[in-house]
Amino acid sequence: MPRSGIGIIGCGAMGAALARGIASSGAVSPADIRVYDQDKKRAEAAAGEWGLRVAAGPEVLLQKSRCIFVAVKPQDVAGAVNSWKEHFQPGAHLLISLAAGVTMQFYRELLPAGSKIIRLMPNTPCLIGEGAIAMSAGSAVGAGEAAEIKELLGGLGLTLAVPEKLLDAVTGLSGSGPAYLYLFVEALVDAGVNAGLDHESASKLALQTVLGAARMLKESGRPPAELRREVTSPAGTTAAALAVLENRSFRGSLIAAVEAAVERAGELKLE
Ligand SMILES: NC(=O)c1ccc[n+]([C@@H]2O[C@H](COP(=O)([O-])OP(=O)(O)OC[C@H]3O[C@@H](n4cnc5c(N)ncnc54)[C@H](OP(=O)(O)O)[C@@H]3O)[C@@H](O)[C@H]2O)c1
Repeated sequence: MPRSGIGIIGCGAMGAALARGIASSGAVSPADIRVYDQDKKRAEAAAGEWGLRVAAGPEVLLQKSRCIFVAVKPQDVAGAVNSWKEHFQPGAHLLISLAAGVTMQFYRELLPAGSKIIRLMPNTPCLIGEGAIAMSAGSAVGAGEAAEIKELLGGLGLTLAVPEKLLDAVTGLSGSGPAYLYLFVEALVDAGVNAGLDHESASKLALQTVLGAARMLKESGRPPAELRREVTSPAGTTAAALAVLENRSFRGSLIAAVEAAVERAGELKLE
């Protein structure tokens, strides 16, 4: 029987965001999206909002779906795949993995030869449709199939194709990236309070500054250095602040932090 549906295995934060993002893209009818979790309540919660179907088991999901999204924790991938791999057909299915650090080679060793595998590296803003997702397609995946998956993910944010070897770099930049920004905002709020603002006002101003600057970057399409120069008049207040940041290796610290995350992603790999 030809399959056209979408199946999502694992309905935690990412699986639920995926279900919501795909359903909201309108590319697939909710009745063609099936979710499964070993905790049925989580699957029901992910399905509820958009009227998706809850599969009774992974084998039902594989019977009815062509695209199988794997959104369980990396350490649970082998157990999950082993429990349904006899239902996986290379000619009929496409496996799309969200598991951080689980390589295509890891899946190839579990699944039949010629299986089509795609890896995604999302980040938490996918939960509000503003994610940054890197996508890497295995050699068995056709260009049309990769384009179809990219379109399906439209409701989760931006999707960018990268070679698999660069997924650790993506993990260090955009995967962990939201945490860097949260720390930046925390520090900016502390600085505002230190300078005399009350906490609530400092929080509102810091958040709006980050949002506004991000929108300026996105909507103007201009390089960040150019926008920064516009805020920096000679011998002015911003120049004084930037000199302190440069002297204290703000830029160097961020580069070293991303390098550390990339290195750690390599250490955590399952291949
Ligand atoms: N969250 C992020 O920011 C983020 C970012 C990038 C990538 N990812 C990747 O996305 C994947 C999911 O992350 P998450 O944060 O959504 O994890 P999560 O909240 O732990 O959700 C995973 C869900 O899968 C269930 N599960 C475990 N084994 C299963 C099996 N064999 N069959 C069906 N369901 C099973 C879990 O149930 P139990 O709780 O009972 O085990 C849980 O409900 C991970 O591989 C992670 O690397 C996450």
